[in-house]
Amino acid sequence: MTTPTSTTPIQGAHMAIRVCHHGEYEMQDPKSPNEVVRIVVIDRDGHKYDIKGKIGDNLLYLAHRYNIDMEGACEASLACTTCHVYVDNKYFEVLPEALEEEEDLLDLAPFLQENSRLGCQIILTKEMDGLVVTLPKATRNFYVDGHVPQPH
Ligand code: FES
Repeated sequence: MTTPTSTTPIQGAHMAIRVCHHGEYEMQDPKSPNEVVRIVVIDRDGHKYDIKGKIGDNLLYLAHRYNIDMEGACEASLACTTCHVYVDNKYFEVLPEALEEEEDLLDLAPFLQENSRLGCQIILTKEMDGLVVTLPKATRNFYVDGHVPQPH
């Protein structure tokens, strides 16, 4: 077995970093006002949730904390699109660029738009304070249907 060097891509390493917890962290309140990141989520029925997250929260699990219907069938392992959201254009540029895996999955998502992202790949930063995301009319859950997308 070879030891990876700085030029050796480590498959999936970024996912391990992004998916280091499964909602426990999001259940914790911010420890100080400086940590607070306010988010607005608009669900499929147009219901608007003003929610308070904190730096480092995964948007998917934060939505679950507030009983918002953002499914997340694959639990943030980048294998479904049920966490598909539209990001308000004002904030789209604030988000880090999508990984190739996220882009590939989004290509399979119904109702794809220019401002589509996967909610489970949005990790809150202070710059995202005020972020507005809207859930699409529907999502497709091919993950539990047994189909796992293959890399290109
Ligand atoms: Fe499956 Fe986000 S929860 S890709």
